[in-house]
Amino acid sequence: MKYKRILLKLSGESLMGAKQFGIDNERINAYAKQIKEIRNSGHEIAIVIGGGNIFRGVQAEEGGMDRTHGDYMGMLATMINAMALQAALESNGVHTRLQSAIEMKAIAEPFIRRKAVRHLEKGRVVIFGAGTGNPFFTTDSAASLRAIEINADVILKGTRVDGIYSADPEKDKTATKFNDITFDDVYKKGLNVMDLTAFTLCKENNLPIIVFDMDTPGNLEKVLSGEPIGTVVHN
Ligand code: GTP
Repeated sequence: MKYKRILLKLSGESLMGAKQFGIDNERINAYAKQIKEIRNSGHEIAIVIGGGNIFRGVQAEEGGMDRTHGDYMGMLATMINAMALQAALESNGVHTRLQSAIEMKAIAEPFIRRKAVRHLEKGRVVIFGAGTGNPFFTTDSAASLRAIEINADVILKGTRVDGIYSADPEKDKTATKFNDITFDDVYKKGLNVMDLTAFTLCKENNLPIIVFDMDTPGNLEKVLSGEPIGTVVHN
């Protein structure tokens, strides 16, 4: 198995499905089913999820709120999504553990790296909530950091688009998709895969990233079985 231990990064926005806000039950249930499939085929799965469907720190700052305050609210938003995903997974019969970067003992374990790894070894899906626990870091950075900490083999970035393009395919008809690309070429071409903090952490730790469309059922399993969907970023 090429990628046994994976870190799956899901965006908060994608949980909205067709809704304007919050969590679409069908969408989160579809994600849970995809995750169950790969768990059943023996992968160890950790998940980081965003919070933009509920609260975005950056927009709050535009409205005059202190950035750090908004970022902490965003971290709480990720916990709401993490709890929803935990419930969806467990209703599909998948054992999970939720760990939070900000202590909230009544609802989640604190983040303890060695415990997270133990859970993974026991076949539990581990969800990391509250980002990195620090303002000024995105959930992409949390995903990179946690992936490195748990020695994940790959980050799978589930998005609404099916990979990385040479330009925005919605604006530029000549845009072409990369099947694979190096970290250096992403920098050179100024492509937007993750924020640079997150991206650089991956590059420096030689952690490949696969960007793929998570909203098509079955894609998660296809990516892991090596089908050429999505884009692989590597050194
Ligand atoms: P192993 O002992 O390795 O099998 O792991 P375990 O997670 O089953 O053991 P533990 O006794 O630590 O946890 C039992 C349950 O309590 C799990 O559902 C944990 O997620 C939960 N749990 C553990 N620590 C905390 C905590 O600090 N807060 C909350 N809310 N739940 C916790």
